[in-house]
Amino acid sequence: MRIDIITIFPEIFSPLEASIIKRAQDKGILKICIWNLRDFSRNKHKKVDDAAYGGGKGMVLACEPIFLAVEEIKKHNPESLTILTCPQGEIFNQQKAKELSKTKGLIIICGHYEGVDERVRTIVDCEISIGDYVLTGGELPAMVIVDCIARLLPGVLPEEATIYDSFFDCLVDWPCYTRPEEFRGLKVPDILLSGDHEKIAKWRLNQAIERTKQKRPDLYEKFIKEKGGPHASKSRSS
Ligand SMILES: C[S@@+](CC[C@H](N)C(=O)[O-])C[C@H]1O[C@@H](n2cnc3c(N)ncnc32)[C@H](O)[C@@H]1O
Repeated sequence: MRIDIITIFPEIFSPLEASIIKRAQDKGILKICIWNLRDFSRNKHKKVDDAAYGGGKGMVLACEPIFLAVEEIKKHNPESLTILTCPQGEIFNQQKAKELSKTKGLIIICGHYEGVDERVRTIVDCEISIGDYVLTGGELPAMVIVDCIARLLPGVLPEEATIYDSFFDCLVDWPCYTRPEEFRGLKVPDILLSGDHEKIAKWRLNQAIERTKQKRPDLYEKFIKEKGGPHASKSRSS
């Protein structure tokens, strides 16, 4: 999968050169291209923003360099979906990540200052927000989106590493432990040391259900409605 990111701060993206996302790129599963919006400015000072019509303090990213950048990127991958990061967009979640991970490619536009000229919306396929708060720019949202999608791409992680993650089957994850068996009086539950994989799977499913009920009643309600509740949910215990 190819993901192109348009930004005025290309230097921010070093986290994408580490860990699992780096490995995904090294394996050739994911290609990330960072484009400096200033390279598409026709202004001799490489200016890409201007004052807002109607007044006000904040600057607005102009439409021309963004249009030119998207047009250039589309030459490399015409089927890419264009995403605008913005606080008023659809809230990003695991389901959306799954959906986007199946596309041919993405172009992510990072806004800054007051945001982008309204006319940019005519060339985007969807607007995504990573939550109801306002960040200084779209760079962190772009990295959140890329990170979440990257781990879902086939071959990046073993399948069981992602299908039992939180939000799979409308449940949060079960509790995990590693060595030592006892730490400062805190013990690993006996069942996990029993070697009985069927019982362990059942215990984990029950824990995931209980935790969802306690911590995310909204998700639990969905679990009951969509998955038929604890008795119908076999996917984690089998
Ligand atoms: C300071 S914000 C602009 C906020 C805008 N004036 C508003 O109130 O909606 C600058 C840029 O950061 C990005 N951004 C900020 N918060 C975001 C969020 N929660 N989700 C996605 N992008 C966000 C967007 O690209 C946005 O254009």
